[in-house]
Amino acid sequence: MSEVRAVPEPFKIKMVEPLKKITREERQTALERAGYNIFLLKSNEVYIDLLTDSGTGAMSDHQWAGLMMGDEAYAGSRNYFHLQDAVKDIFDYNYAIPTHQGRGAEQVLFPILIKKPGQIVISNMHFDTTKAHVELAGGRAVNIVIEDAFDTEKYHPFKGDFDTGRLEAFIKEQGSDKIAFIIVTITCNSAGGQPVSMKNIKEVSEIAKKYGIRIFMDAARFAENAYFIKEREEGYADKSIKDIVKEMFSYVEGFTMSAKKDAIVNIGGLIGIKDDEELYTQASSRVVPLEGFVTYGGLAGRDMEALARGLHEGMDYDYLNYRVGHVRYLGERLREGGIPIQYPTGGHAVFVDAKKILPHIPFYQFPAVALANELYLEAGVRGVEIGSFLLGRDPDTGENLESPLELLRLTIPRRVYTYTHLDVVADALINIKDKASSLKGLEFTYEPKILRHFTARLKPVQ
Ligand code: F0G
Repeated sequence: MSEVRAVPEPFKIKMVEPLKKITREERQTALERAGYNIFLLKSNEVYIDLLTDSGTGAMSDHQWAGLMMGDEAYAGSRNYFHLQDAVKDIFDYNYAIPTHQGRGAEQVLFPILIKKPGQIVISNMHFDTTKAHVELAGGRAVNIVIEDAFDTEKYHPFKGDFDTGRLEAFIKEQGSDKIAFIIVTITCNSAGGQPVSMKNIKEVSEIAKKYGIRIFMDAARFAENAYFIKEREEGYADKSIKDIVKEMFSYVEGFTMSAKKDAIVNIGGLIGIKDDEELYTQASSRVVPLEGFVTYGGLAGRDMEALARGLHEGMDYDYLNYRVGHVRYLGERLREGGIPIQYPTGGHAVFVDAKKILPHIPFYQFPAVALANELYLEAGVRGVEIGSFLLGRDPDTGENLESPLELLRLTIPRRVYTYTHLDVVADALINIKDKASSLKGLEFTYEPKILRHFTARLKPVQ
C-alpha cells in the first residue's frame, strides 16, 4: 500500500461523462493510425487524458449558472462589465480586454510592444505560442530562468525564478533599447509548472524600472503561483490568496492570460492593463480586427460571465490546496515507485524525466515520445512530450536541436479526474519502468517544417 496521502476534494460531483477504455489491441491500432503521435489520436481512444490542463477543467454549478446569464450583445454586454469588475477587484487594474484565448491576447499586445525588428523579449521561460508571437512580431525570445530549473532532482521552492544576475548582465550587454519588454511567466509552465517567488518578481520589476524596460505577466496560472507563495515564501503564510495576487500584479504594468487554466473556463483569454491609457487605446484598436469588438474579443457574453466567475473561484484557498495536493499526489506516488520527476511537483502537471528512464534512447529518437506512447499502450493514458521532439530543428543548420530535458508532461485537468485515476497512471508508469530497456526510439516518416510535434508521423526505430 502506498504511504502517499490525498488532500480531499472540496466539491462533490453531480454530473459525469462516461469513459470507455478500449482494449490494448485497439490502442495499438489507433497509435499506428496516428503515426505514433498522440496528438493524432481521437479523444475517445483515450481513457485518461493528461495532454493539457487548458480548457479541460470542470466548471462549477456557479459558472454553469452564469452561462444562462449571458447577455449576447455585440457591444456593451453586461457580462463584459462583470469581467471588468472582476479584473479591477482582483488585480486592481483599470482596463480589461477579453480575447478568445491566451494566444489571442498575445497577438494583440506583442506587436504594440515590439517596436523594431530584432528587439528582444525576456522571460523566465516562454511558452511555445508566446515565443511564436514574439517572433511573428519581429522579436527574439530569450529565456533567463535559474539553472536549478534544469536539475530535476534538486529541491528548490521557486524553480520558475529568473536568474537576476544574468538578467541584469544581459540587459547591460545588449543595451536597454534592444529589449522590447520582460514577461514573467507564472507559474513557469516549461520548467514544470514551477512558481516564481514574490521576491523574484519584485527584483525583476526593480531591474526593469532601473533600465526603463516595460514588464508584463504571462498570467495563465496566476492563482497556483500565489498558492505556492503563501505556502513556501517567508512572510506570506497569513496573507490571503487575493492579497498575494494583488501584490504580484502591482509589480508589473499588464498581463496576457489564457483563462483556460486557473480561471477554469473551456475557452477564453484576457489582456489586463493597470493604468496606461495609451496602451489600452492601442490594444483596443488592434483587438477589433483580430479578435472582435473590444467588449467581447471573440467570446460570447455567456463565456465572459463564466470567466468573471472563474477568476474568483480559481483563487479559493481550499480549492487550490486540493488542486496542488492532487498533482503532488501523483508526483509522490511516482517518486515512491522509483520514477524520476521534476521535483518538487509544480502546479498543473507532473513532469517525468524520460532521459533518466530511457538512457539508451538518444535525444534525436525522442525518449519522452517513446515513453508517452508506451504509457498509452499500457493504460490508455495520454501525456505529452516536452523535449527535443517539440523543440524542432535549428533554422540555419537544419540539425535536430537537443533539449536540456526530455520530459513527459502528465497535465492534470482541474476538478476532472479522481485520485483513483491518478493511481492508474502511476501504476502504469511503474510497470513500464521494469521493461524500459526494451522500449525503442522513434524516427520520422513525415516531418512538417514548423511546429512539427502537432502533425508529424513517426515509426519505432528497428
Ligand atoms: N502562456 C502559457 C504559460 C501557456 O501555458 C499557454 C498555453 C499560453 C500562454 C497560450 O494560451 O492556449 O489559451 O492560447 N498552454 C497550454 C498548455 C496550451 O497545454 O500548456 P492559449
